[in-house]
Amino acid sequence: MTVKIGIIGLGYWGPNLVRNFAQATGGQLLAVSDLDEGRRNRIAAQYPTIQCFADAEALIHHTDLDAVVIATPINSHYDLAKKALLAGKHVLVEKPLATSAVEVRELMNLAAEKGLLLMVDHTFLYTGAVQKIKELVEQGEIGTLNYFDSTRINLGLFNPNWSVVWDLAVHDLSIFFYITGGKKPVSVSAVGQSHTAMGIEDLAYTTLFFEDGMMAHIASSWISPVKIRKTLIGGSKKMVIYDDVEPTEKIKIYDSGFTVRTPEEMHRWLVDYRFGDIFIPKLEQKEALSGVAHDFIHCIKTGGTPLSNAGLGLQVVAVMEAAQESIRNQGAPVKLSL
Ligand SMILES: NC(=O)c1ccc[n+]([C@@H]2O[C@H](COP(=O)([O-])OP(=O)(O)OC[C@H]3O[C@@H](n4cnc5c(N)ncnc54)[C@H](O)[C@@H]3O)[C@@H](O)[C@H]2O)c1
Repeated sequence: MTVKIGIIGLGYWGPNLVRNFAQATGGQLLAVSDLDEGRRNRIAAQYPTIQCFADAEALIHHTDLDAVVIATPINSHYDLAKKALLAGKHVLVEKPLATSAVEVRELMNLAAEKGLLLMVDHTFLYTGAVQKIKELVEQGEIGTLNYFDSTRINLGLFNPNWSVVWDLAVHDLSIFFYITGGKKPVSVSAVGQSHTAMGIEDLAYTTLFFEDGMMAHIASSWISPVKIRKTLIGGSKKMVIYDDVEPTEKIKIYDSGFTVRTPEEMHRWLVDYRFGDIFIPKLEQKEALSGVAHDFIHCIKTGGTPLSNAGLGLQVVAVMEAAQESIRNQGAPVKLSL
């Protein structure tokens, strides 16, 4: 069976999806849609056999299509995904899945009722670097996780409709939930600030708290002249630095740590430090989005669960919603029951 696919949204990100789905084995890209004629024409010139629609609903109701990919602005995800599911199509939605946990749950229920796949594109999960970190965590190489500390800052594209949390922290949250197998935070506290008349936070610091004392901290900014994409993952055995700006050596594993002991004869704490090797693993070099396209097609065919599944998307959206509520209340913690 060849999965016949249509893509809605040909702005900044959509053409990357078009390129990857046009090449994905097991799938056939049949149609695209965008409100903008110039964008439709550019794709039509590159892919002359693809059908182009101005109206997304015409694509959604195209009887030949099995699946719809949605790469439109965040506030349209829920509406388009719901229409596509109601029309009996499998759906892949760009990150974030929707604008609230209520919307995501409704889409998940609808997909389950209709026996359709609902997936979200958290692209980073399909990179060699994040795959390697997950493997290290699962194999116990890092030990018990103590912290996840991520900085994702640059001079970003300001958006008048959603904050930097929904644009950038979404990536760190998806990586966190993926590598930890969905570790559940008990509360979230976030602060953020707008530095423009738009009133939308362009700088935010989000902290997640866990029952076992682990902490996750995410710094997100559109107002930094320097681009930093760095995540530190510290455990009881080792620490990993993931630097996505590095061209090849994206991951370094530090075999250093400490042990605290209290010898009985001495009534004080002793801390032993251990400085070991630094290891740089070889990573698989592949385009992450091609992994997304293959996972989507494969799971439609097999009924399997994709890496970037809707359940993970729900955790991400629920935390961002709570973070936004906390920002409105100057960092007051918001309890979570994920
Ligand atoms: N996975 C990633 O790393 C990644 C990177 C960038 C953007 N994104 C996501 O991709 C999505 C799109 O972002 P973007 O930066 O490409 O936005 P964009 O504004 O550049 O493009 C959106 C496009 O959707 C079209 N559109 C809007 N409503 C439509 C409708 N009803 N029917 C047909 N076309 C419609 C617009 O005309 C526009 O061309 C967002 O959800 C964003 O978060 C993901």
